Amino acid sequence: MSDTKKPQKEKFKALSVPKGVQEYVPPASSKFLYVRDEFVRQAHVAGFQHIELPVFEDTTLFARGVGESTDVVSKEMYTFADRGGRSVTLRPEGTAGVMRAVIQHNLDRGYLPVKLNYAGPFFRYERPQAGRYRQLQQVGVEAIGVDDPLLDAEIIALADRCYRSVGLKGFRLELTSLGDHTCRPAYREKLQAFLKKLPLDEETQHRVEINPLRVLDDKRPEVQELLADAPLMLDHLSDASREHFETVTGTLKDMGVPFVINPRMVRGLDYYTKTTFEFVHDGLGAQSGIGGGGRYDGLMAQIGGQDLSGIGFGLGVDRTVLALEAEEVALPNLDRRVEVFGVAIGEEARRKMSSLIDELRAAGISADMAYGGRGLKGAMKGADRAGARFALVLGDQELANGEVAVKNLESHEQVAVPLQATAIIQAVS
Ligand code: HAM
Repeated sequence: MSDTKKPQKEKFKALSVPKGVQEYVPPASSKFLYVRDEFVRQAHVAGFQHIELPVFEDTTLFARGVGESTDVVSKEMYTFADRGGRSVTLRPEGTAGVMRAVIQHNLDRGYLPVKLNYAGPFFRYERPQAGRYRQLQQVGVEAIGVDDPLLDAEIIALADRCYRSVGLKGFRLELTSLGDHTCRPAYREKLQAFLKKLPLDEETQHRVEINPLRVLDDKRPEVQELLADAPLMLDHLSDASREHFETVTGTLKDMGVPFVINPRMVRGLDYYTKTTFEFVHDGLGAQSGIGGGGRYDGLMAQIGGQDLSGIGFGLGVDRTVLALEAEEVALPNLDRRVEVFGVAIGEEARRKMSSLIDELRAAGISADMAYGGRGLKGAMKGADRAGARFALVLGDQELANGEVAVKNLESHEQVAVPLQATAIIQAVS
């Protein structure tokens, strides 16, 4: 080996985002933000208050809250021991965490219902495919403490409004009732008895024992054929549950919210009772659920709180963005990064522009400028890329005149105004 050989530069492989994780970079990120913020805005219009939850919790919370027999808990959780040896889990959903926080902060001791709204990432170790991510984004609401069917209708109507407010049309609302503690156990037995008579494979037979309702969700056509005559919860509701459901459907009709009854709906989480719903979009292929939710009677007690009922939903922001793309919905101009863009030529002009832009921002006008000493053409390109409505053009000539040219980039009209923020603000307002 010769010492004179140049040392080889170590090459690092460029890294990519972990498998199954959807990230949003410009310009697509503006679409994501638009949907998420609009959903949150609608929740606030309906009187929900923001709750900011931790992204990880004690593993026990989800095991108890979501249900150990669910795929979410048994197969999909990101669970690890922290450095102190505690088992923690990245939240796979939001409802259990909201319950924990409500109990911990005694929110359920005040005026009821407690109406809370959250937004953010959730984590499920699912097999990634189009519309199915390992980090998924939801906007959710929970109304806790009152078992009133009008509240169920409000929550469902709110979800419907969220989708419509971003321009989505091609979705349908599916609705059912999963009964309550008085009728569900008897139905479960009846269903189990029916399923035990069927020639099912071993794994499915095991599911019949631990969670017979989930068997109804088997996607295999040969199994679906066997299930054609399976007893349905909707036909075995207690009087109270039926009355509750009829009020929900009646109120939705009054509100003009279209829905279809799907008595075979199976949700992926175990806590649901009574009203349960899903929003389905046909433009998305297999991952068609754009949102879902329902009532959960026993959840709070299960987590160690009072025995209060609640109802809520989680709307999938990622899938809503995909659905908007599938429907080719024209969104409001999301490409406008700023209203005003400064184009200054020459050092003195650039310094002056810098403070003018700062003053515009202080007045609440979104503004940016060309950096790096570009020429007029390059700087104007920046204005175009920023989607700006106005360009402020400042060169030696304008400086000498104590003026700045305000160019309307849509109408191409140009006016000269005094070189002061107040005059510019007037010209661009
Ligand atoms: P969920 O049905 O499990 O409900 O999730 C709600 C929505 O999140 C789904 O309809 C879907 O749009 C989206 N979503 C779920 N998993 C994925 C994934 N892997 N990739 C992309 N999007 C996904 C809940 O989480 C309940 N906590 C909702 C709720 C609130 N129920 C009562 N209150």
